[in-house]
Amino acid sequence: MNIFEHLISPPSSEFTSVLYFIQIITYLLFIPYTCLLTGGLILSSVYYNKANKKQNSEILKLSRNIINKTIINKTTGFGLGIIPLITTATIFLQFFYTSNTVPASLLIISILLYVTAYILSYSYKSLINIKEIINSLEYTKTHESNIKSEDSYKLRENIEIFKYDISKKISLYGKLAIFFLLLSVFFLFGSVTIYSNPILLQKSDTIFAIFADISVWLKLIYFVILAFSLTSVTLIFQFFAKHFQKNSAINILQFTNGKLKTFLTTAIISTISLPIIVIFNFLILPDSSLIPSVFIFTGISFISTLVTVILLYAIIRTPKLKYSVSALIFIYLIIFSGIMKDELAFKSSIKEQIAVVNLKAEEIYKEKFPKTTSVTEVNGEEIYKSRCAACHKFDVKLVGPPYKETLPKYNNDIKKLSQYIYNPVKVNPEYPPMPNQGLKMNEAEAVAKYIIETYTK
Ligand code: HEC
Repeated sequence: MNIFEHLISPPSSEFTSVLYFIQIITYLLFIPYTCLLTGGLILSSVYYNKANKKQNSEILKLSRNIINKTIINKTTGFGLGIIPLITTATIFLQFFYTSNTVPASLLIISILLYVTAYILSYSYKSLINIKEIINSLEYTKTHESNIKSEDSYKLRENIEIFKYDISKKISLYGKLAIFFLLLSVFFLFGSVTIYSNPILLQKSDTIFAIFADISVWLKLIYFVILAFSLTSVTLIFQFFAKHFQKNSAINILQFTNGKLKTFLTTAIISTISLPIIVIFNFLILPDSSLIPSVFIFTGISFISTLVTVILLYAIIRTPKLKYSVSALIFIYLIIFSGIMKDELAFKSSIKEQIAVVNLKAEEIYKEKFPKTTSVTEVNGEEIYKSRCAACHKFDVKLVGPPYKETLPKYNNDIKKLSQYIYNPVKVNPEYPPMPNQGLKMNEAEAVAKYIIETYTK
């Protein structure tokens, strides 16, 4: 972590709110783009392998169209995928300035995997386009001339070898890209899961801990299904946009029989499965994240799912492709509400961590700009206000329990209480563990005295 300590500093409480906001924006770019990248790669690879088996150039064209239409160009990919991922990682490292290094390592591995997958995806895309060009060149060649010189024979042989080579590469790059991408996303989710659960954060000591965590798998499954849903609706929408621009009539048979039907079915099946995963995910959410706004966004996500499915079904029945516009909008609404739900749950479950980090920020600030009154006179009230009040009140529950509930058992015993404050141990399973405040013994005593005096007044 030493390298990061120089680059990354704990955020103050004002800056924390800005970071939450930036995090939402980065997710809003990263998740849809990565979904399209994943969905595009999977669908395109599937069709590519099919085309190879059947030696069918129509299917090859479809495979190429899918990848061209979903993964956009390199610069956009960089801006929507890699930059947001790095931004998100930086924010996490700031929030969790002092904690466990396991999730931080996961984030870094995730970025490396993502960059690899990104490079492989765009190589896949270029190669598949090259292959298509060779195919069409060959086609024109066989049709326009029948010179049978030795040269042309040789050329033909070379082309065959080149094609074979390229075919193998395309297939390999496609598979590797999918694998690295999913692994990258899995590590990202794993890291978020560890960060949002204080108990996991304490006990995770290797990066492999995430493979045993069901909620990380559920998040991955949700992501893949969402990828299918978004990708197929995007493809349907693009088909619509193309025909809409040309202003030509759409051949109904063409899409009820052909590939559009496949996309529609994929879109419907995947969209319908989304709520099931959401419910599972909900059941295992830590209690600390169950706040009203989380329920509200889950509700919005359910309703949007329902509307999307109805719209997709309407395309099949009417059949009017214009519904794909609204379907696409509602899919984005599903993504948006999913992100908001996760971010709010996350925010609620890391409250105490943020309190610690904010305090740390204040300390660093004070170190940098020391006040002249830093004569070491230990003042219990001051320590309480600066170190404890963020998490404790006397009468109401904040991050930690109210003193009125916990003090009676100390029976006005300053020694015993200061022992706890000096070195907090886990007490109540309903609360996260209290972070050690790093006080000196005499400071702990002063604050214990202050609390007991104030309490018994
Ligand atoms: C980051 C939040 C946070 C800060 C800061 C914090 N606490 Fe706590 N405190 C907690 C939590 C959470 C618990 C519950 C721990 C448990 O039950 O295991 C707790 C529990 C306690 C308890 C009850 C222990 C018991 O036996 O049940 C006392 C007393 C206490 N804190 C005093 C303090 C004092 C004094 C300070 C300041 C020096 C302080 N806390 C700072 C979060 C915090």
